[in-house]
Amino acid sequence: MRYKVAAIVPAAGSGHRLEAQDKKPFVLLAGRPLITYALKALDSSKHIDQIYVAADPSSIARLKGIISKYGIKKVAGVVAGGSSRAGSVKNCFDLVDPLCDIVLIHDGARPFPGDSDIMNSVILAGKFGGCVTAIPMTDTVKLAGKGFFVKRTIDRSSLWRAQTPQAFRYGILKKALSRIKNISSVTDDAFLLERLGKPVKILKGSSRNIKVTTKEDLKIAEVLI
Ligand code: C5P
Repeated sequence: MRYKVAAIVPAAGSGHRLEAQDKKPFVLLAGRPLITYALKALDSSKHIDQIYVAADPSSIARLKGIISKYGIKKVAGVVAGGSSRAGSVKNCFDLVDPLCDIVLIHDGARPFPGDSDIMNSVILAGKFGGCVTAIPMTDTVKLAGKGFFVKRTIDRSSLWRAQTPQAFRYGILKKALSRIKNISSVTDDAFLLERLGKPVKILKGSSRNIKVTTKEDLKIAEVLI
């Protein structure tokens, strides 16, 4: 079955950890604004039908100009982001065509989503209701106590680092978004389904799919290109 899929791209974060002169979506990565990488990847994927982007209100006009300059065709809306990531996702979701089967969410700060991850997220969301791309934890994880003393070591064999894309059936995500109370504590979308007790399937992602948060990440992204 071919699903109708909307993609949501939250790109309204402050980006202050990047310590850049410009706002994060517009910071240049190998000569191109960072946001164009995620948008181009979604735009050229045959599994995505429409894209909705959340941006800082003062960046909306500039972002629209970049979308047109880089020939990104599937963007159906650019909206003002919220004060939290989940708020930005919700503002986009409110515009999504209710006839969509699946909503796929991908951080604007992740320039390298693999097309097979996009496809498999959609398939697994269709099958199980929700899917999160994640990579297995390779470091040993410590739980810190008071004064930064180690309380204990956590068994890493069942720990995964969540990434995006994350994908959900439209109806389940709608219900999950309508139920959230403390929106600022929600750092990813799968968490919303977890709170409803709904299953979220893990899709093993790629360590190449980094999130650009610091200036070191930007350098790593350049090396990956
Ligand atoms: O803060 P974090 O690194 O988890 O942000 C992940 C993504 O969510 C980024 O692409 C960022 O721009 C976006 N975001 C947003 N609105 C916010 C905060 C973050 O769209 N208020």
